[in-house]
Amino acid sequence: MPVVALIGAQWGDEGKGHLVDLLASKARLVVRYGGGNNAGHTVVNPLGTFKLHLVPSGIFDPSTVNVIGPGVVIDPEVLLGEIKDLEARGVTTAKLFISERAHVIMPYHIMLDQLQESSRGAGKIGTTGRGIGPAYADKMSRVGIRVADLLHEETLLNRLRGVLEEKNRLLTRIYNAKPLSLHDIYLRYLDFGHQLSDHIANVHPIIHRAVEKDFPVLLEGAQGALLDVDHGTYPYVTSSPPGSAGACQGAGIGPTQINSVLGVLKAYTTRVGEGPFPTEIEGDEATVLRQIGTPWAEVGTTTGRLRRVGWFDAVMSRYAVQVNGIDTLAITKLDVLDTLPTIKVCTGYRLHETQPEYPPATVAVLSQVEPIYEELPGWQTPTTEARRFQDLPDAAQAYAARLCQLVGARLGIISVGPGRDQTIVVNEVF
Ligand code: GDP
Ligand code: IMO
Ligand code: MG
Repeated sequence: MPVVALIGAQWGDEGKGHLVDLLASKARLVVRYGGGNNAGHTVVNPLGTFKLHLVPSGIFDPSTVNVIGPGVVIDPEVLLGEIKDLEARGVTTAKLFISERAHVIMPYHIMLDQLQESSRGAGKIGTTGRGIGPAYADKMSRVGIRVADLLHEETLLNRLRGVLEEKNRLLTRIYNAKPLSLHDIYLRYLDFGHQLSDHIANVHPIIHRAVEKDFPVLLEGAQGALLDVDHGTYPYVTSSPPGSAGACQGAGIGPTQINSVLGVLKAYTTRVGEGPFPTEIEGDEATVLRQIGTPWAEVGTTTGRLRRVGWFDAVMSRYAVQVNGIDTLAITKLDVLDTLPTIKVCTGYRLHETQPEYPPATVAVLSQVEPIYEELPGWQTPTTEARRFQDLPDAAQAYAARLCQLVGARLGIISVGPGRDQTIVVNEVF
């Protein structure tokens, strides 16, 4: 299985970073293909605990090449900070390459993201405020600044001059904000380009050669399938395609070259930000799932916001499997359910007199569905030390098997704790 796309199959934070770190030692190349520093990928391994936003989670294996692909939007200041932090902690970034084609998040993107959110009032999306939406919008409008532009003084100045004039009109006349200085931004971003220049490359030959030689390649997703701009709970989505189609586009690989799509699912569901969440639970019932007080509490890695929590939603996840061609599942955080006497799983939706098989497309309708629950017995036994499927209690094995059956993909990996070794490989990914 040389090329594997690892994607989130819920609303993000499924534990993608954990699994990329695990699989990186088997991969020759890890390519982060989309999103920006809205992502927060936590890695817990023998080197420590790391929260990565832009650098691929394969960075901890010194022999693995890590690429930030053309589909990513990059805040250079955040990326430089991350590289510095990794180096300071003894992690080499010598084999990190950044695509020249990736777009740059500019200061006006961040300002506009935050100003637009405030002006939405109660209708806010709950974005991470990192400038992601405005950066992708500019890319599509063909007024984006790309990483390559940071290395060419004249191009940067010309493109920036054109776009900043319009952004400043928007900032001052619509949002009553202060205008930004062309001179300051130009010098600052030119300097970012210089600082990153050793890493900036045409990444196509790196990716193409690895694929051609059948080297194991891991495509690292950010966000999750239900945050997809086309297939997610629009408009409560991110501004990119986080799934397997986005993996092709954002890495520069054709769909025929992807051999397996590994969908990462939490054993329950979480969501950060606004938007419909049919299986959401609150109050006492939610306490166990929130895990407040543990290092893996359901708190956003990027923004520190409390994540909303709920039961596993098989309708949503089955849809994510179908839209992305997921063939294999990684079920994470099974250990979080260890103390529960019974566990609910949503197997269908009720909508007035009907039972829709697929998630309704509009928020107005989706907000009205009532989950139909199946209650499965809990195992009330710690699973964190299990390393083989047969080490898991029968009820935990049955729970994982039921999730796979409901969503329609085979089981690949189960994780029972945040550590690199707290994983059970049922079917090898590479
Ligand atoms: P990502 O964005 O998909 O990489 O996920 P995040 O890092 O944002 O959130 C996942 C959280 O769960 C992090 O705190 C991880 O350390 C933690 N985690 C990952 N896998 C497991 C697991 O199997 N059990 C537990 N208890 N925590 C896990
Ligand atoms: P990882 O890679 C969870 C959510 C935001 C918000 C919506 C739009 O760590 O799984 P944006 O800033 O992208 O315009 O916000 O998307 N969101 C995430 N939620 N995990 C993420 O990334 C997310 N990236 C964006 O909370 O609801
Ligand atoms: Mg995350």
